[in-house]
Amino acid sequence: MEKAIYVTSPLLPELGAFIPYLQQIWKSKYLTNNGPFHQAFEQALADYLGVEHLSLFNNGTTALITALQALAIDGEVITTPYSFAATAHALVWNRLTPVFVDIDPRTFNIDPKAIEAAITPRTQAILPVHCYGLPCDVEAIEQVARRHGLRVIYDAAHAFAVQDAQGSVLRHGDMSILSLHATKVFNTFEGGAIISPDARTKHHVDQLRNFGFVDEVTVETCGINGKMSEINAAFGLLQLQHIDGALVKRESIDALYRKQLMKIPGITLCCAAQNHAYFPILVEDAYPLSRDQLYDAFKQRQVFARRYFYPLISDMAAYCDRKDSRRHPLPMASHIAQRVICLPIHPDLTLTDVERVVAVIRRGALGSSSNTATASAVPDLVSEKR
Ligand SMILES: Cc1ncc(COP(=O)(O)O)c(C=O)c1O
Repeated sequence: MEKAIYVTSPLLPELGAFIPYLQQIWKSKYLTNNGPFHQAFEQALADYLGVEHLSLFNNGTTALITALQALAIDGEVITTPYSFAATAHALVWNRLTPVFVDIDPRTFNIDPKAIEAAITPRTQAILPVHCYGLPCDVEAIEQVARRHGLRVIYDAAHAFAVQDAQGSVLRHGDMSILSLHATKVFNTFEGGAIISPDARTKHHVDQLRNFGFVDEVTVETCGINGKMSEINAAFGLLQLQHIDGALVKRESIDALYRKQLMKIPGITLCCAAQNHAYFPILVEDAYPLSRDQLYDAFKQRQVFARRYFYPLISDMAAYCDRKDSRRHPLPMASHIAQRVICLPIHPDLTLTDVERVVAVIRRGALGSSSNTATASAVPDLVSEKR
């Protein structure tokens, strides 16, 4: 039986390196509630990302729900259907109406022109996603928001450590949220964060994160429990020592895939994000197998690629009867969702693993989805064509 290759594998330091952190927690008996590790990690993470006002959360979904609460958004919010379900769920949990609009087929991010066309008197905000870590067209989105008096909350769950010419992409909009889930580039097992534009907003977010407590006896707003525990925060501090190395490894795997896959007819490579969080490819009509046939061929070879993002959120059972949410055409998003597949990419992926993934795609290019042929029996299409 071949070793399973998963789409991702969590960044984990040596277990022994975490023991002293645990000993400290056991000694202090400080388990949560803004303890010393929480304070240290919150500051260290903000410094690492190059942002000023960061609030840690227990996951990205709670962070997103809280960001929408903090901005007191009401009515309709324009968002992308091409994302993880949590993007839209956070709106519904706030009793907001997600309004799905189409994406730019080159970046997979929400199309600013589609946003403008979908604005109604009930629209209060825009919730774009920096999909796969590729920054949205933040300037165009800001212009639309300014013209129509809308708030912008970025779902930056994929955009850990992504910068543009002026600094962190997390500084854009009224707020950004991060996910530090196990599947992400940087994880604290579970975790998340809100990046606020100023100290006052962060203070408000911090109160909402802790049930709305202002002091021991005063609760001014109906907050939530969004606190990150000391174990997660301590782990985050340790992870910060390893993230740069992990990003370099991701970059080299991305480069390897690009080299190996660039000339396979019907396989389209997508733009690379700075953090190489994902490696999406499009399986076009010129490729002999459909996307789902390629997905099955991978599975036969113990390669667990994922169809992110399929189905579109708007096509999920939880959304498909919501007429208010599904009133705009989504041809690009639908086209991409039918063709996309994300290849395994993570710091522990070996050269042999990459070759195994590539061999399945090359075999498919010959019209075979069978798992019987060996990689060596497959001609090297890439070097043949060069
Ligand atoms: C785009 C997007 N938004 C939100 C989330 C939710 O983050 P979490 O899993 O930390 O709650 C995810 C997580 O996978 C995501 O991919």
